[in-house]
Amino acid sequence: MNSDWRAIANTVTLTIDGRNVRAKEGEKLLWAALDHGIYIPNLCAMREADLPFGGCRLCFVEIDGRRSPVAACSQQVENGMVVRTDTPQVRRLRRTAFELLLSHHHLDCARCPKNKNCELQRIAAHQGFKLKLQRLRRIPRDLPIDASHSLFTYDPNKCVLCGKCVWVCQRHGVGAIDFAYRGLDTRVSTFDNMPMVDAKCDSCLECVKVCPVGALTERDGAS
Ligand code: FES
Repeated sequence: MNSDWRAIANTVTLTIDGRNVRAKEGEKLLWAALDHGIYIPNLCAMREADLPFGGCRLCFVEIDGRRSPVAACSQQVENGMVVRTDTPQVRRLRRTAFELLLSHHHLDCARCPKNKNCELQRIAAHQGFKLKLQRLRRIPRDLPIDASHSLFTYDPNKCVLCGKCVWVCQRHGVGAIDFAYRGLDTRVSTFDNMPMVDAKCDSCLECVKVCPVGALTERDGAS
């Protein structure tokens, strides 16, 4: 078998929103869709991560023959699969997941450094969701903003707990931040909640680059 044939043998063909899509065997549905310009809302998925984190629950899709929607970031592509990314059930689930995120997110877009470059705004625009709570109660959160580091600021009140910053920090072998506390108090924190400047951060700014919202932002003049 020459290499062209091997490449074809390792691909599958599926349908997403009526479009024929070819993807690598074993590929996650989310990446197959995004690679073909089909947007599925997502906040916590990282292509480089071996295992999907599956925390945001925004990437639900429906697959013909399945009883309930599945998370596109955890579902592998299969030959002949028929996928729908925008059905009433999917929209309902996404809307609930989105409102849950908003319920403890400081919505201060006009003054946020990530305004117009924020994944929450992108998802709201794509789905036609409002960036305000409609059905759920606000969970008050007023955690101190950590501006101790000269290069970046961490505002936990804007964190959506996607885990990307934790993942990159660990992948870089630093491990300065991790999830701390439980339930509604869960947050990303340094060891013992110490200021960033005293944590073992090596100032690579990888966490800032992957933050999809305005929780970790570069300080003016830092680069
Ligand atoms: S991207 Fe799939 S659960 Fe977050």
